[in-house]
Amino acid sequence: MNGKMVRFKCFSEIELKSIFLISCLLFLVLILTSCSAPQKTGSEESDLIVVGFSQVGSESDWREANTVSMVEAFSVENGYRLIFDDAQQKQEKQITAIRNFINQEVDYIVLAPITMEGWDTVLTEAKAAGIPVIIVDRMVDTNDPDLFTCWVGSDTRREGDIAVKWMEENLAGPLRIVHLQGNIGSSAQAGRTDGLEAGLKENKDWTLVFQAPGDFVQAKGQELMEEVLSEGIDFNVIYAENDNMAYGAIDALKEHGIVPGKDVKIISFDAAHDALNLVLSGELTLDVECNPLHGPRVRSLIEQLERGETPEKFTYVDEVLFDASNLTEEIIAQRGY
Ligand code: AHR
Repeated sequence: MNGKMVRFKCFSEIELKSIFLISCLLFLVLILTSCSAPQKTGSEESDLIVVGFSQVGSESDWREANTVSMVEAFSVENGYRLIFDDAQQKQEKQITAIRNFINQEVDYIVLAPITMEGWDTVLTEAKAAGIPVIIVDRMVDTNDPDLFTCWVGSDTRREGDIAVKWMEENLAGPLRIVHLQGNIGSSAQAGRTDGLEAGLKENKDWTLVFQAPGDFVQAKGQELMEEVLSEGIDFNVIYAENDNMAYGAIDALKEHGIVPGKDVKIISFDAAHDALNLVLSGELTLDVECNPLHGPRVRSLIEQLERGETPEKFTYVDEVLFDASNLTEEIIAQRGY
């Protein structure tokens, strides 16, 4: 011992309790901050590319798959902040959404247009604000092609044409066709309708016995088929412009004891997972693919713009058709929608 005194402070009971309480609190804070997800700091948040997306609605399985694809592609992890607007099948809601995006000074506007016409004014406003607009899925018909930067989607006229060619090659006439149309004025409807109408002109033993819009909605497809059946219209083919209307039509047929795929041939578009299973089981006769997985495609266009490149003005997605001769369970299992 060198004679130095070691002195201990004696704490009172109250002091000891306070020290214990503060230690517990500090420990709790430490646990909570280490467990919670890492927060974006102000500067990281401002690094995100802001995309305003005006979606048509949620009328079909195709649309749901398209929304999921867009939301996944424009995630924070991928460097984006997505402002998503569901227009519930109303063009005026889409126009309002685009004006809101302009006010919010987003970096890009992505529009899935319900119809082709009626966009010139609002797209001129976006152009004046210097915000690039990317059109996805359906087409717009504008007076000035520079009102949008680029487009990616399906060649729906080609879809109609390949369906008609398949019908010419595979269905024995005379054909009495029930035509369930999508939203009138949308490029998805116009392309598929034009394809069928060209086929009707070419094939003298084809007759259009019923034609009405079902807006791509299952319940409306069913309602229209109920109408056809209650009016006693004679038909042997249904040309439904999407899978959901085909599902509705199939339900109506079954309720009337008609065997889909056997008594009546059914042509559809989209080639969604459930519909392809119906092709395998024979209830659907033909399904023409319309691919909804546009998220990565739109993101790639934005990446090109970010690098200062000029993307192709129009990008058409490669699509195929499925019937009993080329479809397998493996193909269905591998599909992303
Ligand atoms: O524009 C694509 C079409 O819109 C799909 O065929 C249909 O299912 C959707 O609602």
